[in-house]
Amino acid sequence: MEVTTDIYLGDSREQLKLLPDDSVDLIVTSPPYADQRKNTYGGIHPDKYVNWFLPISVQLLRVLKPTGTFILNIKEKVVEGERSTYVMELILEMRKQGWLWTEEFIWHKKNCYPGKWPNRFRDAWERLLQFNKNRKFHMYQEEVMVQMGEWANSRLKNLSETDKIRDNSKVGSGFGKNISNWLERDKAYPTNVLHLATECNNKNHSAAFPEGLPEWFIKLFTKEKDTVLDPFMGSGTTLIVANRMRRNSIGIDIVPEYCEMVKKQLKAVELYLLEPKAEYEKTRVEKRITIR
Ligand SMILES: C[S@@+](CC[C@H](N)C(=O)[O-])C[C@H]1O[C@@H](n2cnc3c(N)ncnc32)[C@H](O)[C@@H]1O
Repeated sequence: MEVTTDIYLGDSREQLKLLPDDSVDLIVTSPPYADQRKNTYGGIHPDKYVNWFLPISVQLLRVLKPTGTFILNIKEKVVEGERSTYVMELILEMRKQGWLWTEEFIWHKKNCYPGKWPNRFRDAWERLLQFNKNRKFHMYQEEVMVQMGEWANSRLKNLSETDKIRDNSKVGSGFGKNISNWLERDKAYPTNVLHLATECNNKNHSAAFPEGLPEWFIKLFTKEKDTVLDPFMGSGTTLIVANRMRRNSIGIDIVPEYCEMVKKQLKAVELYLLEPKAEYEKTRVEKRITIR
């Protein structure tokens, strides 16, 4: 079995044009935020952000398979005491391009820095916007199920009679739908909030993902041998995790040092086994790593 990793050095706006149509199963990325981290790599002014991103998202729409998913990690910064609106504007413009805005996950940063501002509290979350080409897309929900844990013990064991009847949700949320069905189960589907600490290890990148973030979406939206793309690869977290999970991956970054760094790291990673299975142990995974 061969797992390929292709790294493209250059501007995503150009490099994406080299990829074939309908060839990627999942895109997970965190583009440079508007004007943030200006000293590390080029920031884009909030007013120009949408126009800067749209030529990239149109390419992403082209390369994504009809069954694929695009996860965009983004958070609007505060400008003169107000949250910028470019994320909302971007969603509206991407819908005009043909994207469906399917869902928004929240990344709750469990270890956010302490701080105090006169008009707001600590920023402890970021958006993970989910876009699709079609209403039907591949989603492997069983792969991300969580232990029922304490919630099951306390809440579910004391169900009232009204709790047990079908759809008892007074607010129409659908939450109450026959929750007694879950009583005997030890696993439940997760929520759309991901509780993950930000990356603390020195990865030689100031904005690296925690590995758990791409890992969760790779489990949810892909299978082995599928292809994962990160058009703003940075330290390559998405590629490294994809590689361990036996997915093919493609990364693009404009900074040559990041491309070299990712190449070196990929050589060192160990095989990732979700659950050690006999047939896996027999399979040798060849890694083909190319910098273009
Ligand atoms: C927020 S960081 C991504 C961090 C990454 N998720 C990780 O785990 O390390 C954004 C990256 O986009 C790269 N970048 C900025 N503009 C770019 C462009 N036009 N084309 C390709 N890469 C770009 C930067 O060099 C930076 O590494």
